[in-house]
Amino acid sequence: MKLSAAFWRDKCVIVTGASSGIGRALVESLSACGARVGLVARRADRLQELTAAIAVRGGRAAWSAADVTVREQVFQAVASLESALGPCDVLIANAGVYRKTAAREFDAERAELVLTTNLLGVVYALGAVLPGMVRRRRGHLAAVSSVGGMIGLPGAAAYCASKQGVVTLLQSLRADLWKTGIGVTAVCPGYVDTPMITDEERATLRGLVTADEAALRIAWAIQRGRAEYWFPWWTALEVRLARLLPPRLAARILSRYPEMEESERGEG
Ligand SMILES: NC(=O)c1ccc[n+]([C@@H]2O[C@H](COP(=O)([O-])OP(=O)(O)OC[C@H]3O[C@@H](n4cnc5c(N)ncnc54)[C@H](OP(=O)(O)O)[C@@H]3O)[C@@H](O)[C@H]2O)c1
Repeated sequence: MKLSAAFWRDKCVIVTGASSGIGRALVESLSACGARVGLVARRADRLQELTAAIAVRGGRAAWSAADVTVREQVFQAVASLESALGPCDVLIANAGVYRKTAAREFDAERAELVLTTNLLGVVYALGAVLPGMVRRRRGHLAAVSSVGGMIGLPGAAAYCASKQGVVTLLQSLRADLWKTGIGVTAVCPGYVDTPMITDEERATLRGLVTADEAALRIAWAIQRGRAEYWFPWWTALEVRLARLLPPRLAARILSRYPEMEESERGEG
């Protein structure tokens, strides 16, 4: 799996959630391939520092701080990045949060935060770039969902619902945009070693994917025009098999899995 500099060179790529983890790794690897990268997240200090580091290495980058749960902020951020870097060729809507929303202590406010960030955050970013792409009849929309978007995991009702929402949102847009020249990619990673996962998960999970490898796989999926891309393969296989089970049997098996916990090192 290799990134093609010929594909990425001079493309304007806007990445949300660029201050940490997968988003940070994405802007670093894409700028190394010659892309002009636009960084969006809330923590301005981190965006500024990363933009400066990319410039020192000879890359072209710009940043704009925005909270993806606030539509006007996302639209303003995209407008400011497009005026600095040119029209957006590729959007990677990656910003996301994990909050536990287990049934016993179900908290609608926490669920709302997760759904607003992970689903509406993607909707706002798409809304900001899509009219321009449709006018130009080219571009690529990508969003980072999760294997949790393909099956409801214990403790993670809102997270899984938000990530499933992203997959079906993109499925519909892909059909609408068929043969328009605009590509649509939904990426569904398993566990990736970023501040989002807990120390216990980091210590116990086998075959944890690094943020750099996740970024490489996501960029490769976009470059190849993949509609959906699940990784790593063993997690994708487990989920595909689990989806074949009758729902009551699946619930019985999944009830024995540990609930997904929140990391204390996650986004600020
Ligand atoms: N790590 C995993 O195991 C895993 C697995 C599957 C899918 N994913 C998905 O991958 C994506 C990236 O997560 P990560 O693992 O790289 O976690 P991370 O290191 O915690 O990064 C999350 C990013 O999202 C940004 N963000 C969160 N809320 C935001 C908001 N309201 N407005 C703007 N930006 C916001 C954060 O920036 P600020 O805090 O600076 O705003 C940060 O840059 C997420 O969508 C996540 O659900 C992760």
